[in-house]
Amino acid sequence: MNYGPLVFLAAFAALAASWFGFVLTPHLQIGHLQQTNTVPSGVSYPVARSGLAQQGLQVYRANGCAYCHSQQVAQTGTLFDLVLTNPGTNQASTVAAIQSINPRLSQPEVLEIIGKVPVHLLTMVSKSTAEAAAKTVNATGANAVPWIVPIGPDIQRGWGSRRTVAEDFLFDYPVLPGSQRIGPDLSNVGVRQPDPGWHLRHLYAPASVVPGSTMPPYPFLFEKKKVGRVPSPSALPLSGIATVEDGYEVIPKPEALALAEYLVSLQAYAPLFNAPLSVALGKPTSPTETNSISISGGDKAPSDISMP
Ligand code: HEC
Repeated sequence: MNYGPLVFLAAFAALAASWFGFVLTPHLQIGHLQQTNTVPSGVSYPVARSGLAQQGLQVYRANGCAYCHSQQVAQTGTLFDLVLTNPGTNQASTVAAIQSINPRLSQPEVLEIIGKVPVHLLTMVSKSTAEAAAKTVNATGANAVPWIVPIGPDIQRGWGSRRTVAEDFLFDYPVLPGSQRIGPDLSNVGVRQPDPGWHLRHLYAPASVVPGSTMPPYPFLFEKKKVGRVPSPSALPLSGIATVEDGYEVIPKPEALALAEYLVSLQAYAPLFNAPLSVALGKPTSPTETNSISISGGDKAPSDISMP
């Protein structure tokens, strides 16, 4: 019997199925992504990186940084804080309401807390707990809002404040999310290290700024030359193990400047509809921006209240 047509059909079906799964479906899901708005301030996100930072992406690619660094923060779930934004005018009943959320708080402690709005009344509780507590507090004329807090090991390590989504890479080509993590995730390294000068010194000699660093140095992105009549203003201020002989200076090449600009531009923390996160309005940074007096779930003794 001739199995030719059958073999052909089987092979065709297998290839067609994988085409649907690996090409068509992802394309339908994220092939038409557009710039979107951040929530709730409505600012366009993402905006294209500066020209220099786009060149820096090519330097990042050319030097294989993605072999050791990922750019994708994972998130395992979402919890809620309850943030008091306005204690209202009826102080006595607000204090009573807050005490009913956490009965172990004494009155002077509550009074101190509500003097510091915005303040986190509950941290890391479930959505229903936060909503029920908000209802109790808001019934007194105060204003408390549930606050979305993404959680997960990557977020705990300080690599980001929410999960990475496809939008974060909208203007990048090629996208280099990386898969190995010999070094830290760089999705938000521009938030952690906003100084291009730090990145230049780190690229020239990583161990000179991060003691014990195992990252390879990239001295070929710099030029070491004799100091002219006046020292160059762009020479790296080197110290410790990176110092060069007297009479020499280290000048970053254009590639190094572009790469540093790109690294500083890596800031993917905007709250999006599909990656929600609460931030203090008008100042879009981490929740540490509000006074974080955290009173966890009413089941901890008041001695656990952390007051930074
Ligand atoms: C062999 C693996 C490896 C390669 C390749 C590598 N790195 Fe690193 N990188 C590390 C390690 C390990 C650390 C952590 C120690 C440190 O901060 O120096 C690190 C740290 C960093 C940091 C600091 C991150 C932070 O959270 O403070 C930046 C920025 C960085 N690398 C950028 C780069 C760039 C840009 C390249 C490509 C030019 C690169 N790395 C190539 C391993 C690597």
